[in-house]
This record gives sequence, structure tokens and C-alpha cells, in this order.
Amino acid sequence: MAAEDSVRRAFAIQAGHCARLGSPFTASLCGLVAEWLDRRSAIGCRILDWPGPPEADALALRLCGGLHALVRRGRLPELAILYPPAPLDPAALWDATARALDEAGADLDPWLDGPPQTNEVARSGVLMPGLMAVAAATGERPMILWEIGASAGLNLVLDRYAYDLGGVAAGDPAAPVRLVPDWTGPPPPAARVAVAARRGVDLNPLDLREASHRERLVAYIWPDQRERLARMEAAIACAAETPPPLDRGEATAWLADRLAEPPQPGTVRVVQHSIALQYFPPAGQARVGALLAEAGARASPATPLAWLAYEFDGSACALTLTLWPGGERRILASAHPHGQWLRWSAA
Ligand SMILES: C[S@@+](CC[C@H](N)C(=O)[O-])C[C@H]1O[C@@H](n2cnc3c(N)ncnc32)[C@H](O)[C@@H]1O
Repeated sequence: MAAEDSVRRAFAIQAGHCARLGSPFTASLCGLVAEWLDRRSAIGCRILDWPGPPEADALALRLCGGLHALVRRGRLPELAILYPPAPLDPAALWDATARALDEAGADLDPWLDGPPQTNEVARSGVLMPGLMAVAAATGERPMILWEIGASAGLNLVLDRYAYDLGGVAAGDPAAPVRLVPDWTGPPPPAARVAVAARRGVDLNPLDLREASHRERLVAYIWPDQRERLARMEAAIACAAETPPPLDRGEATAWLADRLAEPPQPGTVRVVQHSIALQYFPPAGQARVGALLAEAGARASPATPLAWLAYEFDGSACALTLTLWPGGERRILASAHPHGQWLRWSAA
């Protein structure tokens, strides 16, 4: 397939994903680019001559994120008036987008240079009941919380948000971020989660004190998903004052170092991750399991270890918990990948 055809196809495929995932605006934008993009602008040429695999490179999301960021910055006013909450007008949207590609020029290049990076706050609504299960099983010990693939660390500060989890209140009731996933099944254990220390790692950690990093997190949220946008802005405000410590690095080497640290008596070490493992190479995925099993074998009732994973498990997402000593793996819930709903299965 010629480069141009595979680019148009990648945008059309992304349009289908966006339509299914509840963003008619981004679906329309991707569909319009698929059909009408031409070589009149330098950006049009760069996209149509994309040297890599456009679908795997998430090229459509790179462009949509860049346009959204420039619209939010006030850089493209003619396009901005057609963005949500304005009603969708595909003909006008394409005219304004074509002009914007020309006008934005090099300002869009940095957005095309790298892959999108997100940090979905609503996933805290799935991780939090998992931590409550850890708290219930370990006598509400203070937790040493470690997260791999933490992005900006918005789910590493999950105890700073407010929750209604199947009727059970959790977290900080005064928080500006309130998460209420659609809940099915029995309620989670009403155990208190106390985080004594936290630390995360990412190949590319985002620093919430940096305006450009905050802009990235917001830009990749689809502009018609107003609730997600508002939640992200509130979570950034919540976390940015005291951002969680994040290291730049590869997760498995970092995890090996953490697990080699002497456990602090009276605490429980918890390793958590959400929608991250699938981005690790297969050897890295296996290494995470092996490192935890090795450290778990050394755990004792005085030095327990928990592994809380919220990841794709076949075709759906599952929340699983493995607790040592013992090492039994339990499926706590199945859940929507963005945390919209959760089917709790643990007693
Ligand atoms: C889809 S994001 C999920 C981020 C966050 N866990 C969440 O649920 O919002 C996956 C993250 O994993 C990071 N990542 C991918 N491979 C990694 C690796 N080998 N080591 C550390 N981080 C990695 C990426 O940089 C990205 O921030």
C-alpha cells in the first residue's frame, strides 16, 4: 500500500475507534482528514508522506492532540469556534482545519514528533477498591506504594481524591476530584487506605509543575469529552502542589531496585500499574511477574507484598491482586479501560 493510502486508512480506522469510544467530534475530524487532506500545506505533506506505520504510531491522535492544544492556547481562533461545545458542522470544520494546518505550520511539528501520552484519572476509581482490599487483608497497615508506567503520577496520589465505590465512601471527602464508577456487585471492603510513602517510574515521566507537560495531558483528551477534561484539570490542580516523586527509567530495573530495599516493618509494600504492561516488551512483562514472585517468596506476615494490576486480560480489563506470603492471585473486578464502570467480584 502507498504511504498516502495507509495514512488515510489509519485516520479512517481512528475515526471508527473514536465513534465507538464516545467522541463524535474526534471521529469526524479524523474522518475528514482521511478523506480530504491534501499537499497544500507543509504539515499535509508531512502527514501524507509519513515514513513509519501510521496506525501503530498513533499519527491521527498526534495530529488531533496538536490541534486541540493550539486551539486551547488561542493560536487558531477560526478553528476554535467550531470546537465543542459548538455543534458539530463537518463542512465548516474541514475548511477551518485545512486553513489551520497551513497557519499552524511548524507549531504542529512537535506534536507529530512523538507519541501521545495520557494519564487517566478515572482509573483511580478502579485501583482504589483494590487498595482497600489490600488494607482489609493486612490490618490497615500503612502502604509503601510503587507504580510502574506512572506517566504524570495522577493515579499515584489516588488517596487524595474522593470516592463513592458501590455506596462505600473512601479517600478525602473534601477533594475537588470525586470518582463514582458505575458499580455492579457487592461493595468493596470499607477498609482505610493510608499511604505512608509513594514513588513511581516512567520512561517519560510528566512533571505537573511544567506548563507544557500539563498542556500535553489535557490536549490528548478528546475535546467533546467535557467530563474527562474537567476531571483532568481538577486532578492536575490536586496533584500539582505536591507532585508524587517520579523517576525516569525503565520499569523492570527500577522495580528490581525497589524490591531489593529492606522492607519497613509494620508496612505493606504495594506495586500497582494500570494499562501499562501492554506497552512493555514481552520480556519486560515476564520480568515484572518474575521479580514480584521472587520478592513475594521472601515476604513474611511481618513484611507483606501486594501486586495490584489493572490491565487487559484477553479482550477485557481486569483488576487482579496477588498477596504474599501466600501468592494467591485473585480477580477482584472486571472494569472499563477508562474506569467508567466496574464489576466487583471479590467477597
Ligand atoms: C497508557 S499509559 C498509562 C499511564 C497510567 N498508568 C494510566 O493508567 O493513566 C502507559 C505508560 O507506560 C509508560 N511505559 C511504557 N513502557 C514503559 C517501560 N518499559 N518502563 C516504564 N514506563 C513505561 C509510558 O511512558 C506511559 O506513560
